Amino acid sequence: MPDRHFASDNNAGVHPAILAALAAANDGHAPGYGDDDSTSRTEAAFRALLGEDARVFFAFNGTGANVVALAAALRPYQSVICPAAAHLAVDECAAFERFNGGKLIDVPVENGKLTPDDVERQMWGIGDQHHVQPGAISISQSTEVGTVYTIAELRALGETARTRGLLFHVDGARIANAVAALGVDLRTMLVETGVDVCTFGGTKNGTMFGEAIVFPKHHPAVDALPFTRKQGMQLASKMRFVAAQFEALLRDDLWLTNAAHANAMAHLLAGRLRDLDDVVQLAYPVEANAVFPILPPESIEPLQRERRFYMWDHAGHVARWMCSWDTTVDDVHDFADAVWRIAPPQKKTRA
Ligand SMILES: Cc1ncc(COP(=O)(O)O)c(C=O)c1O
Repeated sequence: MPDRHFASDNNAGVHPAILAALAAANDGHAPGYGDDDSTSRTEAAFRALLGEDARVFFAFNGTGANVVALAAALRPYQSVICPAAAHLAVDECAAFERFNGGKLIDVPVENGKLTPDDVERQMWGIGDQHHVQPGAISISQSTEVGTVYTIAELRALGETARTRGLLFHVDGARIANAVAALGVDLRTMLVETGVDVCTFGGTKNGTMFGEAIVFPKHHPAVDALPFTRKQGMQLASKMRFVAAQFEALLRDDLWLTNAAHANAMAHLLAGRLRDLDDVVQLAYPVEANAVFPILPPESIEPLQRERRFYMWDHAGHVARWMCSWDTTVDDVHDFADAVWRIAPPQKKTRA
């Protein structure tokens, strides 16, 4: 089994510039809990991207960042409306439910994207003491199935959130991939669309650990966040080592270079499958760094014996292949060659 694979974008190592930043941050003593210079500089770098009202709080991981951000804004009798496949709903071991005490309303969606209509359908029982009260919308950008909300789609959700008094939360574990895919700036993606709070991912994009909770503009939950973060066990005492990674990630747009590369590799991989389209089809359009092929059932086990990846939907034979900041063109061809060998085209012969 090759040691480079497509199982997850967090299987890649740490970008050398980030390792160097970690080593540089290891120089001397610095105040803890975010009172250090690197944290201040990195907060300023986020403000430069988003505007003077933006606030950023660093956390250890994405699950914790999502949970403490939502905790800062919601009461335990409130719900979060999210797509059924949301990481928050299926991959966080009910952390939200346990720590925040609220309820996730996870709704079936198309192509991974929640719409204003999906949200409106859940807006009932408001003011009824027997019913959980809708408090937030949560989406992932890019989505769990590798699609990307357009700015117009985000604006429509932002407008729904505003008129319905809901928090608009974005799980941005892969926000960089979405920004790179749309070719917009972060301010357009988060401020102009009405996003209230976003988990800005690092781990999938070249950092060793750590995520940033970003409030793109002023929001009252900013005042509660320091407390929910500490109570939620996401406050790093040696904060400089998280901040220094984000400082390096934002410098010279490394976050976008890494993400654009991962996206390009996913497109290359999807391109290699195009000639196999009588055997392998795509379950979702490739818009960021993920490819979701529908595999011939008999090819799944042989391919998994040779290459490491996860099945997304066993019943539908849909696999999930993720590209990373360090995926190479050779990695893609090597992987695609294995697919061609194990699931050869039926109509066409050209490899
Ligand atoms: C969409 C999404 N959100 C959040 C996370 C954060 O996960 P973790 O708690 O492992 O950092 C992930 C990681 O797989 C993810 O894919």
